[in-house]
Amino acid sequence: SAASAIPQDLAGRRVLVTAGGTREPIDPVRFVGNRSSGRQGVALALAAAARGAEVTLLAANLDIAAPTGVRVVAVSTAAELREAALAATDEADVVIMAAAVADYRPVEIATAKIKKDDQGDELALRLVRNPDILRELTGVRRPGQTIVGFAAETEPDRDAQLALGRAKAARKGVDLLVLNRVGWHEGFQAETNEIIVIDAAGEIRAEATGSKASVADRILDLVTETAADAAR
Ligand code: CTP
Ligand code: CA
Repeated sequence: SAASAIPQDLAGRRVLVTAGGTREPIDPVRFVGNRSSGRQGVALALAAAARGAEVTLLAANLDIAAPTGVRVVAVSTAAELREAALAATDEADVVIMAAAVADYRPVEIATAKIKKDDQGDELALRLVRNPDILRELTGVRRPGQTIVGFAAETEPDRDAQLALGRAKAARKGVDLLVLNRVGWHEGFQAETNEIIVIDAAGEIRAEATGSKASVADRILDLVTETAADAAR
């Protein structure tokens, strides 16, 4: 069958994937969010499961149906994602941080719906930085654990994008960083993706364009190579 042709190169490996975009509540009916659909993260979870991995997906506000065949934990805010990720990382051989985490959250969450009559013509929201979950995960990395980050950049120039990526990979302490260009019509919510993967040393390890499923497989190829290198 077609299924038996899929290499089981992640058999017995435990893979933690985060997907989607966090939402930071403003009041009971509103939030600060981003346009991440969760498609690339879900594609990664499915591809890892197809290759034999035991997958946990931390799903933040997916635009698409959560996949079957993987353990799904629903989260919404960055704080919830952080708590779930820190709880699950001990059990993971591979961590793939595909979720778009809100960099800031409202300082205060109004307990009742904010009313225009109380605000006038302008409303200022005060936001505070969220903790960097990926940085925390690399800070508690288990021996042999492979950690993959994503970097969504709107920078159109390839060399400038790579420079941003290299600095980000170093800052985050990841083994692999998947760079993808996002914009009004690219990356987020699209069916396809265009990526460059760099390693901890900033070397380009792969470039891929195509369906989010094919891009997921390319990323997982590098994960298995990186884990094999580390074990050598
Ligand atoms: N990330 C995270 N926690 C945050 C912000 C980002 O874990 N509070 C993770 C993302 O899931 C992604 C990686 O860090 O895997 C890079 O996210 P990105 O937004 O590109 O980088 P930032 O460090 O937030 O920098 P900036 O948005 O300013 O470019
Ligand atoms: Ca960010």
